Amino acid sequence: NIKHIDAYQIYDSRGYPTLEVEVTLEDGTTGRGLVPSGASTGQFEAWELRDGDKSKFRGKSVYKAIENVRGEIANAIIGQSVFEQEAIDQKMIALDGTPNKSRLGANAILGTSMAVAYAAAKAKNIPLFEYLGNGKGYLIPLNEIQILGGGAHADWATDIQDFLVIAVGAKTYEETLEMTHNIYHAAGEVMKEKGKCVGIADEGGWWPDYIDNEEPFEVFMEAIKRAGYEAGRDVAISLDIAASDLFDGENYHLRLEDRKLTPDEFYDMMKLWCEKYPIVSIEDPFADTAFDYWKKFTDEFGDRVQIIGDDLFTTNIKRIKEGIDKGLANSVLIKLNQIGSVSETLKAIELTQNAGWLPVVSARSGETEDAFISHLAVATNAGQLKVGSFARSERMVKWNENLRIQRKLGDKAAFIGGKIYDRIFA
Ligand code: PGA
Ligand code: ZN
Repeated sequence: NIKHIDAYQIYDSRGYPTLEVEVTLEDGTTGRGLVPSGASTGQFEAWELRDGDKSKFRGKSVYKAIENVRGEIANAIIGQSVFEQEAIDQKMIALDGTPNKSRLGANAILGTSMAVAYAAAKAKNIPLFEYLGNGKGYLIPLNEIQILGGGAHADWATDIQDFLVIAVGAKTYEETLEMTHNIYHAAGEVMKEKGKCVGIADEGGWWPDYIDNEEPFEVFMEAIKRAGYEAGRDVAISLDIAASDLFDGENYHLRLEDRKLTPDEFYDMMKLWCEKYPIVSIEDPFADTAFDYWKKFTDEFGDRVQIIGDDLFTTNIKRIKEGIDKGLANSVLIKLNQIGSVSETLKAIELTQNAGWLPVVSARSGETEDAFISHLAVATNAGQLKVGSFARSERMVKWNENLRIQRKLGDKAAFIGGKIYDRIFA
């Protein structure tokens, strides 16, 4: 049973304060939960509680959330069996009492929820993926890896947030890493030669200096070629448009090109890109309220492009259900802190899979040294993992953890790579 719960302020990959929750069991076993944090957050996400006192970490401290863990949350769940993940999560949700976990803070609740899961796995002396998946997880995910960063992660250096590669032709997990490494560094080379590389964006991808939104595609295609791969066969392009960040309620504002597109014009641009480039996956191509456009796009491209709802669904079961009923996409981005508990996240993945859609387990732009999501992806056989780029330890720790999980699974591990899309493509 849970004997003690404590929480501390630690710092994420941007140096912003976040929570570390530690759960201790009667036998001395401990589990820690480290909470990530987004920048291009969706309006329907669970609430990240920050103190907002400008004199403390410029408003970003999380002391109130820490107090909530040490006080109300600890009081409610100390004494409970650590193996009752769902009951513990439900207790915290009821205690919070708001629809978006805004009273206690989704960060306080999630940190505790993750710490409970880690402690439970440790108490059973099994790895987290085995615990979370009841021993059913075996699928090593296909990686979606960022090469260029933009949008809110690079001060709008491009209007598109993520240019990513998916090594659809790779036969093994290791091969996806090698291919990505080669393309990442080839892209850096190409950009430096052209004088287009400013630095590194929030998720480790290159921070570019472009004049329009077409230029990154050209650089990307050149990098794939220079790395020795055929675009469309060995590797495919994946985009996270994060379109809600561009939408002003009426039009889509392209800051880089200083122009506004009507929703119809924006639709045509998404369509053009999907026809012109070897794009296998596109995330948030429209604003999180533009259901009609999502539906139209899925009807038109859903048989050959993975269409992922991130801000659209915010890992929220109700929103995912509505999306499935209305046919708004064919894939759901899964982020623990968007919904704020481990058991709700597991349910969101199950719901997605039961509908014949694909879940993509994802990190946040503000990450920690924890690799919970690597275990989550394998535990649920999600098949895909998105963690930003192939650089910086808060990203690499996730890719590396899957190597360890694969070794641990031994003969039981499977990698189906790009064949995952056979489940949604015609
Ligand atoms: P965020 O970005 O963590 O800043 O929300 C990631 C994403 O949009 O997928
Ligand atoms: Zn996104």
